[in-house]
Amino acid sequence: MKTYLLVLGRHPELSRAELRGKADEVFYDEEKNLLIAENLQFTNPRSLPRGEEQLFIDQLGGTIRMAEVVGEFFDKTKLQQAIWKRIEAAEKFKCGFTVFGGGKKLLSDLIFSTKDHFDRIRVENYKQENLTSGQIFQRRILQKGHEFIIWKRGESYLLCETVANQNLRNYELRDRKKDFRDAKMGMLPPKLAQILLNLATADLETGLQTEIKNRDRSLTVLDPFCGSGTVNIEAAIAGFKTLGSDLNERFVGKAAENFAQMAEKFRYPVTSTEFRTKNATLCLEGIDMPVVVATEGWLGENFEARPDRETIHKNAGEVLDLWRQVLNHLAEKKVDVIAGCLPAWNRAGSKQTVSEKFLLHAQKLGYKPVLFADGKPTTFYEREDAFVAREVFVLKRTA
Ligand SMILES: C[S@@+](CC[C@H](N)C(=O)[O-])C[C@H]1O[C@@H](n2cnc3c(N)ncnc32)[C@H](O)[C@@H]1O
Repeated sequence: MKTYLLVLGRHPELSRAELRGKADEVFYDEEKNLLIAENLQFTNPRSLPRGEEQLFIDQLGGTIRMAEVVGEFFDKTKLQQAIWKRIEAAEKFKCGFTVFGGGKKLLSDLIFSTKDHFDRIRVENYKQENLTSGQIFQRRILQKGHEFIIWKRGESYLLCETVANQNLRNYELRDRKKDFRDAKMGMLPPKLAQILLNLATADLETGLQTEIKNRDRSLTVLDPFCGSGTVNIEAAIAGFKTLGSDLNERFVGKAAENFAQMAEKFRYPVTSTEFRTKNATLCLEGIDMPVVVATEGWLGENFEARPDRETIHKNAGEVLDLWRQVLNHLAEKKVDVIAGCLPAWNRAGSKQTVSEKFLLHAQKLGYKPVLFADGKPTTFYEREDAFVAREVFVLKRTA
């Protein structure tokens, strides 16, 4: 069985949670934000002509790069020899290094000794800095050469060779190149939409036989606050059927347009969705099929300046009130899994949240939060300087 090193994104709790059911976590290093995993589940929902490892990383919003573990060395010379052997074995001419834990000295030793050893190999590290995923992608290093990740832990050097990297072009395509984007509505990054989708559908894949897994791909993912349709697009790319509804009729139309535009680019069937203008409190009215919910939810007003305490209080009340009604409806319709976000307002160095009351209500209806790896029922997704953070939750129906 192959072992992999995963380089996680900026929100490690989310990155780890979305991997559940897709890989077994063997070890996680909080300080370096690196995860060792085994038993990866490779799914190819649309028969894409892509390598397994690229397929794996493409379905994740929170893993930046993945490398196969090649071996562990306790001697730097043996490490270098192992690297050179791999370079010699392939007719490629680029190479790069990323070092964790070994400091600048280890990185510059590897760069200079490799340059000295080969005439025809171009070492892609500039200024003796680690390579970024952006550089690896832009310079097509994985296609034209090798990237090695060396993780020094105590006396040991773990040598890994990068096998897949986030496809930045595809993210750009479904983010900035979307026909309709509404700055006022706030932009849901496709990566977070992907994470929400993975959280909502994770359980369906855990330990199930392939046969059942395939059947579950026919399950429908609902976003009752679909806005421009980001979650629906990610669901369709992952091979699920999807439903979207929103209170705003104009957004519903635009979501359908975005969905069709991306269907052409990502080759999923346009027929795999339906968009309706509906209040989320009645989102499943007239629908009789099993769904899981993945949604960014409504985050209250979109502020251009930091809101004051009263405004936050008012917004918190409205969001809670709406979600209570939505949960009542979803419970009545026996929806088993709900992954979503609640707003959390940054104010005076702390956060005003609504999650405690929200979770209390959910529990009364028979929902239990799925805990994150740190044991907490929610985790934050935030961008620097944003007035409102997203507090992510996953609920599972137990009653
Ligand atoms: C933060 S935006 C979601 C954006 C979306 N994730 C996207 O990809 O564009 C929240 C959305 O909730 C919708 N909304 C607000 N209250 C609603 C309600 N009661 N029922 C349904 N949709 C509602 C808004 O119209 C808005 O589109």
